[in-house]
Amino acid sequence: MYNPLASYEENLRKGPSPEWNEGGFFPKIEFTAEPRFSCLGIPLHLPLGIPAGPLLSSAYMKVAIDAGFSMPVYKTVRSSAWASHPWPNVLSVEQLNDRGTQNRPTATVVPLLKSVLSDARKKSGLSITNAFGVPSLSPGEWASDFRTLSELERSPGRTAALSFQGSRREGENWSHFLDDTSLCAQMAAQALSSSGGKFLEMNVSCPNESGAPIYTDFKALTETLQAAAAPLKFFPELKLMVKLGVLPTQNLLGIVELIAKYAHGISAINTLSANIVTPAGERALGSKAEHGGICGDAIRGVALQTISELNRARQALGLEKNSFALVGVGGCSSFEHLEEFLKAGADVVHAATGAMWHLQLAGECADRLGIPYSRKETI
Ligand SMILES: Cc1cc2nc3c(=O)[nH]c(=O)nc-3n(C[C@H](O)[C@H](O)[C@H](O)COP(=O)(O)O)c2cc1C
Repeated sequence: MYNPLASYEENLRKGPSPEWNEGGFFPKIEFTAEPRFSCLGIPLHLPLGIPAGPLLSSAYMKVAIDAGFSMPVYKTVRSSAWASHPWPNVLSVEQLNDRGTQNRPTATVVPLLKSVLSDARKKSGLSITNAFGVPSLSPGEWASDFRTLSELERSPGRTAALSFQGSRREGENWSHFLDDTSLCAQMAAQALSSSGGKFLEMNVSCPNESGAPIYTDFKALTETLQAAAAPLKFFPELKLMVKLGVLPTQNLLGIVELIAKYAHGISAINTLSANIVTPAGERALGSKAEHGGICGDAIRGVALQTISELNRARQALGLEKNSFALVGVGGCSSFEHLEEFLKAGADVVHAATGAMWHLQLAGECADRLGIPYSRKETI
């Protein structure tokens, strides 16, 4: 769906590319029975979605829904237009070495070519870089684009989620960031509510921005949650999920208890931060930044461990699944992985790297779960 050999802007403008999906086409399926799954009371045909990032616009969201993903997330939006880091952003990880600098592993990367995606062994072990810097259209553009998804909310079993985050602009201080978080939460809630959607997700774990991710600082996380929650009290029908990264080892219970005060669940994990180099040891990303995010196969172990720990914390705090949800993200590319996440305690699983070039994943999971569907013509 995403062409890693082209810029972010080109992918956004030209829309999802069928040539960059397995088989060169987009699968189209229609579920034929009542939804058997749910998340926070919202019915879902499959406990499977695509997380914030790969779905750049409503055109991408529609392709994901047609392929059978029941809970796709529209990419993280901001309160003003924001440019992407320069190309290349998505590169294929050849080797991940624990002995990096500044507590980060080092990833040796090469261009992601179609030949890698057509090699079953390489594809199933695929890990990639993701270094975009959270680009966004202007609020007017993304809000009107998101509203075109209202039609899909009329049929139960699928729902379009929307991800947002506050922006840290140069020369601005922390209180500006909190104001911006409130503003963006309000804008996102308005767009989501008017389209009939239910799930709002706040990203507090971007590894590509300046400074440490917000969720790693308890005070910063508290203030950010408060800032987002303030406008959301006018949208009681919406569920707020909070996107975290790899968890700090200390105070996990405290973090989950805090999030449960302001939100309805946690989505985890975001990408793993790593130093990104070419085989010659040079900086490889278009931004020329030393580090970026790694996602895909290499992060599934830590993602599963994170969900297990979050699930234990949820139980220890006496939080019920139907009031506090866990979305498992990281390295899911098969039905077996989906099962592992569900066993670890996830209520829904989201696949980015494992679905971006293999939209057939949703149909494969429906087959294994015995969920009936019919195939529509493909494009
Ligand atoms: C192309 C791409 C763009 C992404 N952009 C975002 C983003 O805007 N916001 C966000 O919260 N996560 C973003 N992510 C992270 C994913 O949501 C997810 O947490 C991560 O890729 C791990 O899942 P995976 O191993 O299935 O890829 C992005 C990931 C990819 C691959």
